[in-house]
Amino acid sequence: MTLPPGPSTPRFVQGAYALTMPFRGMRRMRERYGDAFTIDVPIFGRGVVISDPAEIKQLFTTGTDVVDNLDANLGRVLGRGSLFALRGEAHRRGRKLLVPPFHGRRLATYERIVEEETVRELASWPRGRPFPVLPSTMRITLNAILRAVFGAEGAEFDELRELLPRFVGLGSRLAVLPVPRADLGRWSPWGRFLAMRREYDAVIDRLVGKAGDLDGREDVLAMMLQSRYEDGSPMSRGEVADQLLTLLAAGHETTATTLAWAVERLRRHPGVLRALVDEVDAGGRELREATVLEVQRSRPVIDMVGRQVRAERLELGRWTVPKGYAVLVSIGLIHDDDRVFPDARAFDPSRFLGARPDLYHWIPFGGGTRRCLGAAFANMEMNVVLRTVLRDVTLTPTTERDERWHSRGIAYAPAKGGLAVVHRRRARAVPPAAATATGARP
Ligand code: HEM
Repeated sequence: MTLPPGPSTPRFVQGAYALTMPFRGMRRMRERYGDAFTIDVPIFGRGVVISDPAEIKQLFTTGTDVVDNLDANLGRVLGRGSLFALRGEAHRRGRKLLVPPFHGRRLATYERIVEEETVRELASWPRGRPFPVLPSTMRITLNAILRAVFGAEGAEFDELRELLPRFVGLGSRLAVLPVPRADLGRWSPWGRFLAMRREYDAVIDRLVGKAGDLDGREDVLAMMLQSRYEDGSPMSRGEVADQLLTLLAAGHETTATTLAWAVERLRRHPGVLRALVDEVDAGGRELREATVLEVQRSRPVIDMVGRQVRAERLELGRWTVPKGYAVLVSIGLIHDDDRVFPDARAFDPSRFLGARPDLYHWIPFGGGTRRCLGAAFANMEMNVVLRTVLRDVTLTPTTERDERWHSRGIAYAPAKGGLAVVHRRRARAVPPAAATATGARP
């Protein structure tokens, strides 16, 4: 077997190193061992980190009989029917049903929802003094998913908006802990988690019950209820609930943190910011789309995606990786590689002007059969939020130091939450809060 070189320090030391310095630590390992190295860390165990474009492409195009998703506790947290928990043929079957609602062409119907949610948030932004945008972008992306994906309104919208951030937050912490053998009671973390899951299932039951006449409905839940597996059977209630939770967990914080990074980057690049405002005023979008790509390249909020070797061995470029090993693709390292992206540390959206990114070089959404299902949805959302922000407020540039990376459990956010200082450009009528029962929004 030929494995890449790597440190020989004990597992917990390597784990602590990776946790405390996720990005700098990876760069140091690359400087020391090259673009691939072997590690031994808690949770993943022994694994190989890769960042060479050819090896990444090979991994993403290898069949699921040889490599499949990593074994993680996600099934226990998101449910056994979650796409993250399904493997092989079951994953292919489940994913086939979820792809059509997220097809690029369909997404224009959701732009209005995202714009309304953004205008509502902008009305609460303070003028002329610094504030973190992350709590705002978290509300925008949560509300957008609840309306466009869950089709929730009224009481169910209000209940899910209150419950889901707590539920997913606790779940992401529990995903990295072993499940206790003994029942530790309703006040233990798992006990509280299961109580929240019952609450969640009850709301989903009500949403499905209300969905009676699906004609004219455009949300993803309505499409799930009408979809059929190849044998003609529908998705079960449990499967619907698990997939909705998966979409929320995968799509809420990731999109919100990327938007916070967009604000952080643009305030430090006034030339790009000015050009974007001019473009919005002229009704264009090309530079904005390139900027979204560049924010994701230079500040990927998910640092790694992983697979596990299921076959006896995986021949991967220069390496032979044994069964059971994790293969971790370092998104941070390939995006930071000058050979792949010249002058990689520079924030330069023009590198994507008039050019689509290579899907094995630019990989914030992972790749292959597991590539992010919501990539087009996320891009639409980020584009509409940025357009609305640039149109309605003036973002003040800053000479402050770059914000550091901060792990929030699921995604890496700017440590100060993407501090912004804004002034009003144009006043807009705030859309009525018709979607909620109470009309109240925090
Ligand atoms: C900027 C925002 C987002 C980022 C950076 C992101 C990133 C990712 C990444 C890295 C993966 C793993 C891919 C792999 O293993 O190769 C993934 C999977 C997934 N994402 Fe996203 N995501 C984002 C937004 C969304 C949204 C908005 C949704 C849905 C509403 C979504 C739904 C999913 C699902 C369902 C999967 C699992 C796919 C599968 O296993 O087949 N994501 N995402």
